[in-house]
Amino acid sequence: MTRREFAGGLAGVVGAAWAHRHLGVLAAQARASVDGDRVNRHLAELSAFGKNPHGGVTRLAYSAADRLGREYVTGLMRAAGLEVRVDPAGNILGRRAGSDSSRKPLLFGSHIDSVPDGGNYDGDVGSLSAIEVAQTLGERNVTLRHPIEVVVFQNEEGGTVGSRAMAGQLEPAALTLTARSGKVTRDGIAFIGGDPDRLESAVRKRGDIAAYVELHIEQGGTLEEKKIDIGVVQGIVGIGWWDVTVDGFANHAGTTPMDKRQDALLAAARFIEMVNRVVTSEAGRQVGTVGRIQALPGAPNVIPGTVTCSLELRDLDPLKIERLYQRVHEEAQRIATASRTTFTFAETHRSVPALTDPRLQALIENVALDRGLTATRLPSGAGHDAQYVAQIAPAGMIFVPSVGGISHSPKEFTKPQDVVNGANVLLDTILRLDSTDWT
Ligand code: GLV
Ligand code: MN
Ligand code: MN
Repeated sequence: MTRREFAGGLAGVVGAAWAHRHLGVLAAQARASVDGDRVNRHLAELSAFGKNPHGGVTRLAYSAADRLGREYVTGLMRAAGLEVRVDPAGNILGRRAGSDSSRKPLLFGSHIDSVPDGGNYDGDVGSLSAIEVAQTLGERNVTLRHPIEVVVFQNEEGGTVGSRAMAGQLEPAALTLTARSGKVTRDGIAFIGGDPDRLESAVRKRGDIAAYVELHIEQGGTLEEKKIDIGVVQGIVGIGWWDVTVDGFANHAGTTPMDKRQDALLAAARFIEMVNRVVTSEAGRQVGTVGRIQALPGAPNVIPGTVTCSLELRDLDPLKIERLYQRVHEEAQRIATASRTTFTFAETHRSVPALTDPRLQALIENVALDRGLTATRLPSGAGHDAQYVAQIAPAGMIFVPSVGGISHSPKEFTKPQDVVNGANVLLDTILRLDSTDWT
């Protein structure tokens, strides 16, 4: 069967606008689809790796659970007839050749690592749906003009490490950072089958990839609230992370009078409150979070001498992130003076905001409407590998609803039908991209 016969359906022939109005549902019924039960079964199976007692997973990048999960998805890729390799950055890539050797690959996928105590859908939906799309095409003997490459990026949650490496933007210092699994990134990459000394061979240049498409759960509540099936992502926020160290003086909690203390935890408490005030002091969708904190030495009868905590700032505008950081930094110095402590900031990660390709936005929206689904455009407040691939290729993202807008939690849930809708929109997007001239 040729791609055109397969993509078929009246919608492809008579033009999108007319089809949207009159033929959306009929055309969707006539068109081939992914195996919805299979992709949802694979999601359930993947959630066994790193399963935690709260119903979610802790599958930290470079942990044993991560490696087992990667073995599981590698098996699925092989079963889907893909030629699988791990690139030197540790990303898993499954490839199938196209019929036109002059074409660059269509790349699609996501990640399977999780945050601590995370859920079963963040990254997994996009990764397993990408494999499902490849399997669906293979089972129907559909050969595209473009090669296809399914990608499972490594360590998205620890700062989009795999996709940064692919975009040539993983600075050497990042290899020395300790990941949440406890492994230094360099060792972690070797642990999952990459080669940290050959990262440059994982780099793709502009022009090497025809287009990148990532399906993901929304992780917010917009689609569910508006009862819309598919989100077409317009842009992805940039993220700044800092390690903040507050130094005071550890002393006896019983004998040191209140006015003689240099309490690092008290200063950190004022810092947390200040971050919230600074971030909410201007209009916009910017967010700021102190998500991790540790007080030392950590005893009820010792005044905390040192506190380490994180600072995260996000916005679509990198200048706004910088401006907010400068204000937080300045105000921290005032807290330091008043509490006789010191604040030191070390930047540990900075991701660039990225806009998705407008042509891909339109294509995804048309594909969704042609399936009889509803769609809306929206920004992403979460970071994604797509923001790095967008530096080197046209990139697009498809969102499906998150129940209650909950994510990075074991309570994260996306309804099976929404997973199927997303996978079908991904399938049709890949088919339509294959037939467009700009790729
Ligand atoms: C990635 O999931 C992020 O937005 O932190
Ligand atoms: Mn996440
Ligand atoms: Mn994710």
